[in-house]
Amino acid sequence: MTKNVLVLPGDGIGPEIVTEAVKVLGTLNLDIEIDSALVGGSAVDATGNPLPEETLNKARSADAILLGAVGGPKWDGNPMESRPEKGLLGLRSELELFANFRPAILYPQLAEASTLKPEVVSGLDILIVRELTGGIYFGQPRGIRTLENGEREGYNTYVYSESEIRRIGRQAFEAAQKRGKRLCSVDKSNVLEVTVLWKEVMEELAKEYPDVELSHMLVDNAAMQLVRAPKQFDVVVTGNMFGDILSDAAAMLTGSIGMLPSASLDKDGKGMYEPCHGSAPDIAGQGKANPLATILSVAMMLRYSLDESAAADRIEAAVQKVLDQGLRTGDIMSEGCTLVSTEEMGDAVVAAL
Ligand code: IPM
Ligand code: MG
Repeated sequence: MTKNVLVLPGDGIGPEIVTEAVKVLGTLNLDIEIDSALVGGSAVDATGNPLPEETLNKARSADAILLGAVGGPKWDGNPMESRPEKGLLGLRSELELFANFRPAILYPQLAEASTLKPEVVSGLDILIVRELTGGIYFGQPRGIRTLENGEREGYNTYVYSESEIRRIGRQAFEAAQKRGKRLCSVDKSNVLEVTVLWKEVMEELAKEYPDVELSHMLVDNAAMQLVRAPKQFDVVVTGNMFGDILSDAAAMLTGSIGMLPSASLDKDGKGMYEPCHGSAPDIAGQGKANPLATILSVAMMLRYSLDESAAADRIEAAVQKVLDQGLRTGDIMSEGCTLVSTEEMGDAVVAAL
């Protein structure tokens, strides 16, 4: 049966990297129909809304969604409701994509590209499981209010219900079962009650997964351990905001955030796939962006939502091959390699396929 993929290029380098990823997808000759729609700043410009109704409807009916990136300085001054990021957050929450998987794998070819010593990062393979539709990103009440004395006050609410913690916890335990069977839950339970509950629920769940070794770490220590000795981690599970921050740190261990794909899944495995990086407005339109994170996101999409794991394996092998050939975009460039453009990198992956 034909599968439907909705492509949302977004802003900045989004359109460039998505073009390459779609090219790679097209090379596989699968029974997939591709549609596209606007999201983020480009949607604000065209319709005034970062997540137009039409985009949301198409997203609801698609089998999977591939997103580039959203945001840019052009819209930074917009009120919160019409910021590009609202489009992305709206998709995540409307589609209930609560489980965000961010694998940080160091390709051996890129050991030199990491800012950390090769011995610290070589062989790195960690998975960050980030809760994506709750926590302080979505908690109510929120806003900026004026107090009686005339001073303004900004406030957000960090809240998680037991069921929200349990469902992301299960995803993380199950992911750990398929990998190294170690799960580290990251919290701030020395200060924040919401994460005291988080920790308790993880402990309860651990009883159901006796084959997985559960540990806990405070988020500040986790940030330090990630750059000190990252290989101690197998699977990390954490809330929305901590996961946002730690996944950027983890990305840099692998040489470049331009290498990191991600999957955001609902309870039935329907998903949205996007690179972990942002829209990089400083290099947009210059052919400098690394399309590999988006191409690797296509591989995750084939594996998790489209039941095409053989095709996913082929893409990942093709990426290895172009790295073996010494082809590099600027972000992962090192001595003796060949600097290529966004398009040349996409073409090389297609040729390797
Ligand atoms: C990410 C991004 C987003 C987030 C932004 C663009 C809203 O940083 O996917 O990590 O904070 O979740
Ligand atoms: Mg982020």
